[in-house]
Amino acid sequence: MTQTFIPRVFSGIQPSGGLTLGNYLGAIKRFVDMQENGGFETVYCMVDLHAITVWQNPEDLRRNTRELCAGFIASGIDPEKSILFNQSQVPEHVQLAWIFNCVARMGWMKRMTQWKDKAGKNTENASLGLFGYPALMAADILIYHATHVPVGDDQKQHLELTRDIAAKFNNDFDVDFFPITEPVIEGAATRVMSLRDGSKKMSKSDPSDLSRLNMTDDADALAKKIRKAKTDAEPLPDSIEGLEGRPEARNLVNIYAALSDSNAEAVITEFSGHQFGTFKPRLVDLAIEKLAPISNEMSRLMQDTSEIDKILARGAERGRTIAAPILAKTYDIVGMLR
Ligand code: TYM
Repeated sequence: MTQTFIPRVFSGIQPSGGLTLGNYLGAIKRFVDMQENGGFETVYCMVDLHAITVWQNPEDLRRNTRELCAGFIASGIDPEKSILFNQSQVPEHVQLAWIFNCVARMGWMKRMTQWKDKAGKNTENASLGLFGYPALMAADILIYHATHVPVGDDQKQHLELTRDIAAKFNNDFDVDFFPITEPVIEGAATRVMSLRDGSKKMSKSDPSDLSRLNMTDDADALAKKIRKAKTDAEPLPDSIEGLEGRPEARNLVNIYAALSDSNAEAVITEFSGHQFGTFKPRLVDLAIEKLAPISNEMSRLMQDTSEIDKILARGAERGRTIAAPILAKTYDIVGMLR
């Protein structure tokens, strides 16, 4: 018999530095949409165990986890409507990850482009955790039997691996237990690019702070970074095709579209023929209108970290009520005595 699964969303973000506009548009903003509109149960997580696959200063990790939680809430995640917690408080993630370490194959892991990028040339010196990272990610998702996972484009390969792990587990044990999860990679900003180089992803680890908008940037910083964003000398084209070969222009159009809940076509129609001298100030106004309130609310929430800790503890408790029975059933399937 084919099992039916409750429509449930899971997604996570690493507390490994500040939140960027890429995280907001590619992930959190869409998490809020799914919380409000999709008819889903929504589960969102600060993946602190993923963060430590590369070195994290413990004090910074604590601060970043709380700040990320503040970022989720300030952006519209409601801890009553969604389950919101940090990964290490729900030990079932790691317990399932171990099972998946035994299901996933070395060859699958070696093909992960993020492993290759992050480990670089010196793979011998990378942590074992970094190599096994996608098995923990699969466990994050499948410990909730999540059916849908909203992410940015850079996580696509990890989600394909999650499907492979679920399918192999189901097949190895001849069960229909784990769902084959749907990636949800949608909207105008699934891949927000660096403001300094349109061929590179906007990232918290880029050494240049001018390359990204941080969710904690104030209005002056947002304005300065957008004014300095790399562009070309041409006016905006009259069709999407005209953005071909103009990655920086395309990126700013996509950012405008995502911030205004619109799409690139509509933005092009509005600004066709205009120079960046006209477009950029409009983008500055829009970014300040949408992002400054989030940044202000984050600083307000960070003034009471005990409230944040309470929210996370409560979220973890709720998370465990879903995760514990799924782990127990997994152990039964695998043949563990309990
Ligand atoms: P992380 O922490 O690198 O990024 C969090 C989310 O933000 C998205 N994102 C972007 N989207 C568009 N443009 C960008 N420039 C950009 N930069 C980041 C990412 O795609 C992601 O959705 N492995 C994950 C965390 C994770 C996870 C999970 C995600 C752990 N377990 C289970 C989903 C489900 C990661 O490192 O994301």
